[in-house]
Amino acid sequence: MSTKRFTLQELQAKKDAGRPITVVTAYDLSSARLVDRAGIDVILVGDSLGMVMLGLESTVPVTMDEMVHHAKAAARGADHALLVGDMPFLSYQASRTEAVRNAGRFLKEGGMGAVKLEGGRTMADTVRAIADAGIPVMGHIGLTPQSISRLGGYRVQGKTAPAALGLLEDARALEAAGCFSIVLESVPAAVASAISRRLSVPTIGIGAGAGCDGQVLVYHDMLGLFDDFQPRFVKRYANLGETIHGALTAYREDVEARRFPAEEHTYAMPDDELASFLETLGD
Ligand code: KIV
Repeated sequence: MSTKRFTLQELQAKKDAGRPITVVTAYDLSSARLVDRAGIDVILVGDSLGMVMLGLESTVPVTMDEMVHHAKAAARGADHALLVGDMPFLSYQASRTEAVRNAGRFLKEGGMGAVKLEGGRTMADTVRAIADAGIPVMGHIGLTPQSISRLGGYRVQGKTAPAALGLLEDARALEAAGCFSIVLESVPAAVASAISRRLSVPTIGIGAGAGCDGQVLVYHDMLGLFDDFQPRFVKRYANLGETIHGALTAYREDVEARRFPAEEHTYAMPDDELASFLETLGD
């Protein structure tokens, strides 16, 4: 694995060569360091942090300040991966000026190399404005969690022919507006594959099948750290929640039984200093 930062050009080269792109979310120093050291191409500081880190019911309440706070921490842990900051709800919808300013915060303050935002054709002008400011933009269509109220829940998108054609139009509009890559979330595999073959830029799938140019999973989902619910598309690669529970329970039992701390976890004092100390105390 090279030690230099993964670039947008390398991302595109992977699509062009038919080599799958890997993306995982991370939200702080230690998760970003682990993802980076595993050789993952792209770290997404996703607004999913609202649910898995902050305990919110959806991504909707997440703020720009919260995103920048987590982006900064994740950036300190990643030397290699391309870093993408996820623009939270209402940080880019109200006006293009605000969108450019908030996207810029991810680069200036958060240490990110690019931003992601949700939405298709209706967001094309916003994408163009951010890209024209020199900020690389990743699109996100299909199931867009920030629009969960309008979508009526976490449902698969593009299941009818007109809806699937609408997604293709969205993807084409985002590509034309300057997106360097597009996330396809919860879309039938055949639709995601057809879109991926028609775009020049790479698609990154989550619940969108193997025909995408890359895949993304949420760190907490794939590692078994968040079990409030588990979408069908998640593959669990570890059950760290259980491992951590076991370790914490063992610690509690050790302290309660006075097995911890042991001699090897304890600092000693030179004998003469100890004797003088005790003598002064009169012990
Ligand atoms: O916020 C997030 O983690 C995301 C991914 C699921 C694509 O947007």
